[in-house]
Amino acid sequence: TASHGAGPFIAAIDQGTTSSRCIVFDKDGRIVSVDQKEHEQIFPKPGWVEHDAAEIWTNVQEVVAGAIHKAGITSADVKAIGITNQRETTLLWDKNTGEPVHNALVWQDTRTDALCKELGRNVGQDRFRRETGLPLASYFAGPKVRWLLDNVEGLRERAERGEILFGTMDSWVIWNLTGGVDGGHHVTDVTNASRTMLMNLHTMQWDERILDSMEVPAAVLPEIRSSAEVYGTVKGGVLDGVPVASALGDQQAALFGQTCFAEGEAKSTYGTGTFMLMNTGDKIINSYSGLLTTVGYQIGDEKPVYALEGSIAVTGSLVQWMRDQMGLIKSAAEIETLASSVEDNGGAYFVPAFSGLFAPYWRSDARGVIAGLTRYVTKAHIARAVLEATAWQTREITDAMTKDSGVELTALKVDGGMTSNNLLMQTLSDFLDAPVVRPMVAETTCLGAAYAAGLAVGFWPDTDALRANWRRAAEWTPRMDAGKRDSEYKNWLKAVERSMGWLE
Ligand code: G3P
Repeated sequence: TASHGAGPFIAAIDQGTTSSRCIVFDKDGRIVSVDQKEHEQIFPKPGWVEHDAAEIWTNVQEVVAGAIHKAGITSADVKAIGITNQRETTLLWDKNTGEPVHNALVWQDTRTDALCKELGRNVGQDRFRRETGLPLASYFAGPKVRWLLDNVEGLRERAERGEILFGTMDSWVIWNLTGGVDGGHHVTDVTNASRTMLMNLHTMQWDERILDSMEVPAAVLPEIRSSAEVYGTVKGGVLDGVPVASALGDQQAALFGQTCFAEGEAKSTYGTGTFMLMNTGDKIINSYSGLLTTVGYQIGDEKPVYALEGSIAVTGSLVQWMRDQMGLIKSAAEIETLASSVEDNGGAYFVPAFSGLFAPYWRSDARGVIAGLTRYVTKAHIARAVLEATAWQTREITDAMTKDSGVELTALKVDGGMTSNNLLMQTLSDFLDAPVVRPMVAETTCLGAAYAAGLAVGFWPDTDALRANWRRAAEWTPRMDAGKRDSEYKNWLKAVERSMGWLE
């Protein structure tokens, strides 16, 4: 007998920063099958990062077919499909041909730095914070749209004539899945829209004043919908006829997959970057500590649920950089073996400000530094500093969360690829001085999208049924001496200081 029930099932697509995957889940939230494919990372200049959206759409179709095939099922067994995605990554495409007009500008891309400074010149970085919950930073989609309209020959005129569509990757995937040029639905959900810097958090609609200042024509924008409802049905391919029933930015999907449905519940996801989100219920909490105010999720016509977010741009991608650009390790997993071969960091600290610094600093002018080097330091110490960078950056975020929410951290729920690194998880617990807990299904991003889609079509009755699926798989508890923790934290903060102001 198979390890999963007989079905029916829910499928989810995760269109992520480095790969696209599709996972099929059963009613208990267990994984039935997975298929995954990486896509090319394009770095045309320092600080620029692009993706080929046509390659991504081809990969999405392949992994959907792959996962369905591996599960040994057909479209008749799949009650709905959910979408989750790398957020902020910005695409404009031709409505009539379905062709992207330029590579997608990835969330890590810093080319809109000068534009953001310009937009904030007289009023400062918080110009749109009250409406959008976000500081002016190159991270968000709105400035990227503006950059494309200003820099691709003839694009603004075409956009104003209504020939061009804008979307983050959720919109791109849903439009293509539901027919593309042949009647595809041009929609996005509240969580993805909340990362554009163009949506008003209070009305959940595009904000006309901001569109004006950002010079983005309303004609390119998708319709904003809830995160869990049927947007349309799949046209063609192995899932022909299946309802497309959820969309959530990947971090919000992970919050959902970790079943953080109550106010105060939080999770931290360790992927390319790391993102900690705390459910704040129906409250739009303004951060005074460098966090973002964002939408957690909205189920159908229920009230939206908001969240506070601490975003870290570079964590897993630093390990990839060590592998691909530096050649210091052959596989990502090797970082743990290498780092474990020494007792400590040997005095070295690595601040990976490759995309500037995100929370809590929001400094687009920061760049990466390795500090504290002596002749003593080996590549093993650097490997250790690489892992510690992830743990210290998390510590800075949890400190900010504590300040903004007034709630002490009692335990941190984690997920994502990097959580299979035991040394990192122990270090995290040591630096946070709190237990770190990982659930059975570490693929919470896809799980969250599946949960939302399943709720939308009545596959699961309510969020309580989802909570019952959450099971603890592993837990790490702090073992570090408090004095040592404090002195190491001071050194880390000194190194962070040195990464700032690099691009004056
Ligand atoms: O905001 C960017 C985030 O959504 C990317 O997530 O998992 O692809 O690094 P990930």
